[in-house]
Amino acid sequence: MISIRDVSFSYYGSETDRWALRNIHLDIAPDEFVAFLGPNGSGKSSLSKLLNGIEWPTEGTITVDGRSTMDASQLPAIRRAVQIVFQNPENQQVGITVGEDIAFGLSNIGWPQHDIQNRIQWALELVQLNAGEDRLVSQLSGGEKQKLALASVLALSPRYLILDESTSMLDPIARRQFVETLHTARKAHPFAIIYITHHLEEVLDADRLVLFQQGWVRQIGKPDDILTDEDLLTSCGLELPFERSLALSLHKAGIPVSVSSSIEELRKWL
Ligand SMILES: Nc1ncnc2c1ncn2[C@@H]1O[C@H](COP(=O)(O)OP(=O)(O)O)[C@@H](O)[C@H]1O
Ligand SMILES: [Mg+2]
Repeated sequence: MISIRDVSFSYYGSETDRWALRNIHLDIAPDEFVAFLGPNGSGKSSLSKLLNGIEWPTEGTITVDGRSTMDASQLPAIRRAVQIVFQNPENQQVGITVGEDIAFGLSNIGWPQHDIQNRIQWALELVQLNAGEDRLVSQLSGGEKQKLALASVLALSPRYLILDESTSMLDPIARRQFVETLHTARKAHPFAIIYITHHLEEVLDADRLVLFQQGWVRQIGKPDDILTDEDLLTSCGLELPFERSLALSLHKAGIPVSVSSSIEELRKWL
C-alpha cells in the first residue's frame, strides 16, 4: 500500500505561497489501477516524484509498503518498488542495444549476472517487443522505444508502476498497442498502475480516477461517477472522447447505457 498523508509540497521550501501540492490524502493499493487527471501544472508529476522519493514532502508523510520516503536508508527499496515510465522514452534509455538497456537496471539492483539473459528475454516477451536484444535502440520506432522502456522497468518487478504521460508522443495505433501491452503484462504479473494522461479513453476501466486542480485533489471516484459530471471535467480541462459524450447524452435521455459502454453496445442501442 502507498499511503499519502496530508502531503503538501513546494519546490521552494515551506516559507512560500507557491505550492505544487496541497493537503493530499490518498491510499493506493498494490493491485489498483488509479488514474491521475487534471490540467498541466495541477501537480500530477510532482506527486509521482514524491512517490518514489525523488522529492520529499514539505509537509506530511508518504509510505510505500510501510517504508517512509523520507528515510534515506529505505530509498533503494522504495525506488525499486515504485518505477516510472516517462513521456519521452529517449530520456530513459541508457543502452545502445535493446539487451543492454534492460540489463542496465538489472545490474544496478544486483540481479544474478548468469540470469540476466533470461530476464531480458522474459521482459521482451512480456511486452511483446519483437526485437532481438542486439537491435540498436536508435533503430526502434517510437512505439517500440516506449515498449522497451516498459520492458526495462517491468524486468525489475515493480509493485507500483507510474506512467507519466507515457503515451503522449505515440500515434493513436502505437498508443492503443502500448495500453494493451501494459494490461496484458499486468494480468500475467500483477502490479499497481498509476496512470497519468490527458486521454480519458485510456482510463475508462480504471478502479479510481483522481482529479487534480491547482495542486489540490478536486475529486476522487469511479469512472462512471466522474465521467458523467461534464461540468467537473470541463473545469479540470478534460474533454470526453466523442463516443463517451454520445453515451452520456443517451444516459441522460434515460437510455440505460453506461458511460463506459463499448462502441458495440452503443451501436446496439442506437
Ligand atoms: N522543477 C520545478 N521547479 C519549480 N516548480 C515546478 C517544477 N516542476 C513543476 N513545478 C511547478 O509545480 C506545479 C505542478 O506541476 P506538475 O507537477 O509538473 O504538474 P502536472 O504534471 O500536473 O502538469 C506547477 O505550478 C509547476 O509550474
Ligand atoms: Mg506532468
